[in-house]
Amino acid sequence: MIVFTNKNELKDKISSIRSQKHTIGFVPTMGALHKGHLSLVEQAMSNNQYVIVSIFVNPTQFDNPSDLEKYPRTLEQDVALLKTLSKDIIIYAPSVNDIYDDKVTSTKFSFDGLEHQMEGKFREGHFDGVGTIVKKLFEIVTPDNAYFGEKDFQQLAIIKKLVSKHNLGVNVVGCKIHREENGLAMSSRNTRLTKAHKNAAPFIYKTLLTAKEKFGTKSANQVTKWVEQQFANHTLLQLEYFTIADANTLKTVQRKSKYKTYRAFIAVYAGEIRLIDNIALN
Ligand code: PAJ
Repeated sequence: MIVFTNKNELKDKISSIRSQKHTIGFVPTMGALHKGHLSLVEQAMSNNQYVIVSIFVNPTQFDNPSDLEKYPRTLEQDVALLKTLSKDIIIYAPSVNDIYDDKVTSTKFSFDGLEHQMEGKFREGHFDGVGTIVKKLFEIVTPDNAYFGEKDFQQLAIIKKLVSKHNLGVNVVGCKIHREENGLAMSSRNTRLTKAHKNAAPFIYKTLLTAKEKFGTKSANQVTKWVEQQFANHTLLQLEYFTIADANTLKTVQRKSKYKTYRAFIAVYAGEIRLIDNIALN
């Protein structure tokens, strides 16, 4: 198992892979790996000769300093988990300095409005931070294919936009959401839930499933009101937003059209922990 912490050493390794004309699949992560991450790695393994996984808790995408500080860091365990898939996976686990030198700031991006919807409204500067780190990582790793989860559907859309606007020449592959048996979307933040919040959290996906069913016969507005009511009296889960949006523009839908694809998006606080999820509606 090779774990690189230095980008120049990783670049040397990548040059040697490239000189043999092999393909590279890349899975960027912030670590605290779970089966959702591993499903992306498995997809990368089945479509590329080499797989690189980055593990880096990127400071510039956190709008909340306490969330950054408390974000789980479990490198040894992550390496062991990846090893169960293949000992040939290449890991890049840089320090903040290796990525940012001494300038820990993000570039300002325009993603043609995608960045102003949903997460963009509630997490200031978040997508500038994501764009900054993913662009830097793509420039270091130069992957053929890069794998992102639909769990962060808005992030996936933004990365596709980043690649097309900046001609980064990477094929971005979206991967299905991996869930616990009880429906809760897997997330590194789930390990920080209290027992009571963990028991309550599957309510999020259950509500999304019913919302999907209702969307068959009701307007987006009616479904949104219904979801808001479901959370209004919930003692453990606090709804931040629920939106039904056009899956391409991510704009909240006003009037349904049978020619468009829609998705429902939700953000909920379970105590201090912010959870997000989404579901395809048609
Ligand atoms: P992180 O939250 O660690 O997620 C890494 C990748 O795993 C993302 O593409 C995310 O969508 C995917 N993922 C997480 N949980 C998933 C699940 N339950 N099912 C399927 N895929 C899942 O997203 C980030 O890190 C960062 O923003 C990053 C892109 C690495 C930039 O710092």
